[in-house]
Amino acid sequence: MKKKILIISGGISKERVISLDTGKQVAKELRKNGYIVKISEPNFHIYNLIKSFKPNVIFNALHGQFGEDGYIQSILETTNIPYTHSGVISSALAMDKELSKKIFLKNNILTPKYIMFYFNRSKTNLIKLINKKLKFPVVIKPINEGSSVNVFICNRLNIFSKIKLLEDYKKIIIEEFIPGREIQVAIMGKKKLGAIELKPKRKFYDYEAKYKKSAKTKHIIPVKISKNYLNKVLSISFKAHKLLGCRGVTRSDFKFFKNKFYLLEINTQPGMTKLSLVPEIAAYNGISFFDLIKWMLDNASVKK
Ligand SMILES: Nc1ncnc2c1ncn2[C@@H]1O[C@H](COP(=O)(O)OP(=O)(O)O)[C@@H](O)[C@H]1O
Ligand SMILES: [Mg+2]
Repeated sequence: MKKKILIISGGISKERVISLDTGKQVAKELRKNGYIVKISEPNFHIYNLIKSFKPNVIFNALHGQFGEDGYIQSILETTNIPYTHSGVISSALAMDKELSKKIFLKNNILTPKYIMFYFNRSKTNLIKLINKKLKFPVVIKPINEGSSVNVFICNRLNIFSKIKLLEDYKKIIIEEFIPGREIQVAIMGKKKLGAIELKPKRKFYDYEAKYKKSAKTKHIIPVKISKNYLNKVLSISFKAHKLLGCRGVTRSDFKFFKNKFYLLEINTQPGMTKLSLVPEIAAYNGISFFDLIKWMLDNASVKK
């Protein structure tokens, strides 16, 4: 039987463009392999489209707000058609960097020290508080974005001007800056798939470093660390994946400094273009782009 797949991509998040690219590339690969594919935005017409097209599986190619945070997942649950990646609760927890950090800390997973900053509260003691609880430089970031959107490294002098750039959010995270290496790990269901190191030429692994070829971020695979440390970081990722009840593929982002892994976040909808990190880690481990997508489709489900 020719399987019918509905890919949902685009959306309204700041990662819309990346998602459209993910959708397009997954569609191309599926069509090449004999699948019947439709691509749709996550809009009001989606129920009608699902009713008329009757897909066997829905491939969620969205990133960021309303695509990776449990909202679209809860709508998909009502259709009773299996969809790829994590379910409602896991997506919501993983997308919320504040909540997931609390869960990591409760379960002895090291994550950078942090304080929350609320825009409706006074800023007067902020520098004092940062000096007491963290130290400069710090990283400020929204709790619910991706692709390094609105992530800034700040010092004492520029922190207020940078915070001002984020005032559309109700609250943000202020985190201690962890120098050192940037290592990311892919988990594929029960399989600890592997790790990759990123060496950005820019100040950090920001949006440009992630997506602009001209930024020349170096991808290093296999990661040059001992087997012992590699196993360690794979195990932390696996633990985080399980703790949050994730499904399918996830990618966890780490900083590695002074022989310690700091988990920055776990992504439930990691980029899935041919050049994205999870497909790169998969390819290194002998899993082709199509095999990876096929596995995701087989792994899709509802009510989890
Ligand atoms: N505490 C931190 N210390 C050092 N670098 C950080 C820290 N937090 C974020 N970064 C940098 O910013 C990038 C994006 O941060 P991350 O928390 O993964 O958010 P996003 O969801 O936008 O990917 C990281 O890959 C890293 O390069
Ligand atoms: Mg990240």
